Amino acid sequence: MSEPIRMKNNGQISIMLNVNKREKIPDLQKSISPKSLSQEHAILKEIEREMNTLVGMTQIKKMMKEVYAWIYINKRREEAGLKSGQQVLHMMFKGNPGTGKTTVARLIGKLFQKMDILPKGHLIEAERADLVGEYIGHTAQKTRDLIKKATGGVLFIDEAYSLGRGGEKDFGKEAIDTLVKHMEDKQNEFILILAGYSHEMDYFLSLNPGLHSRFPLVFHFPDYTANELMEIGRRMVGEKEYILSKEAEAKLKDHLLYVKGVKGEHFSNGRYVRNLIEKAIRSQAMRLLSESHLDKNILATLMSEDFNFSK
Ligand SMILES: Nc1ncnc2c1ncn2[C@@H]1O[C@H](COP(=O)(O)OP(=O)(O)O)[C@@H](O)[C@H]1O
Ligand SMILES: [Mg+2]
Repeated sequence: MSEPIRMKNNGQISIMLNVNKREKIPDLQKSISPKSLSQEHAILKEIEREMNTLVGMTQIKKMMKEVYAWIYINKRREEAGLKSGQQVLHMMFKGNPGTGKTTVARLIGKLFQKMDILPKGHLIEAERADLVGEYIGHTAQKTRDLIKKATGGVLFIDEAYSLGRGGEKDFGKEAIDTLVKHMEDKQNEFILILAGYSHEMDYFLSLNPGLHSRFPLVFHFPDYTANELMEIGRRMVGEKEYILSKEAEAKLKDHLLYVKGVKGEHFSNGRYVRNLIEKAIRSQAMRLLSESHLDKNILATLMSEDFNFSK
């Protein structure tokens, strides 16, 4: 029975196909499939696109790429039978309020989910009160519950230094101990991100020397310049389909320069800008209420008088 088939397959095309198959398959098996490679880097590109909607953050954007490369190459090494280093992906975010820490934490969850590091990649935001209980045993329970909620995603603890505030007898310490235990037991089932003011976090770490090595990835979130804050403001306004009049821009910028100087590290950067804009939108609506002629341009424009800086 094989004879006629051989006869049939004696044509050139058939032979070519067979040769091709024979040569290609082992090639594909030996090396990394170029298709999956480009597919996986598409994840990086997508995250970079999202990161690029954020103003400034040059260092953070670079760090994100580094983390991606680190994980990716480690995976490849593992596949190639090479030693792959133990990857601890818990992080520390240092910076003042409104500098984009929560925003980046959310993106990291998304990146890790796409990279198959985390099954869900969701973000659970918590602070001291969500972890620390009122009686012995309560704290460990609360902390465990929170970890459970964050499993498969990111547990983001804001102002984490406050857990170290009360010293040995404080329940904050119990929360830290519970977190550390679960970080080790449930390696990579969730990513823990501790966030807070830079020097408070440094002080917190100095009180808990064992913590340092458990958070190998440290991201610094610098305050925004007045120009960056203006750009953040413009993007926020644009997203909501508003525009700033020239005068409104000038007024906003002057004000931002002023508050930045006055408030120092308690200035809440992007959040402050967001609040100002939301307030201006409400003021504009009030102003337009008594306006008889409302065209698209009038409806879209935030004027300088819509910005009132009371505090
Ligand atoms: N680089 C940025 N570009 C655009 N918007 C930003 C940027 N950084 C912060 N924001 C905006 O500022 C607000 C506060 O950011 P958030 O991530 O909550 O800061 P943090 O967690 O550090 O307090 C959010 O509305 C966020 O969208
Ligand atoms: Mg935050």
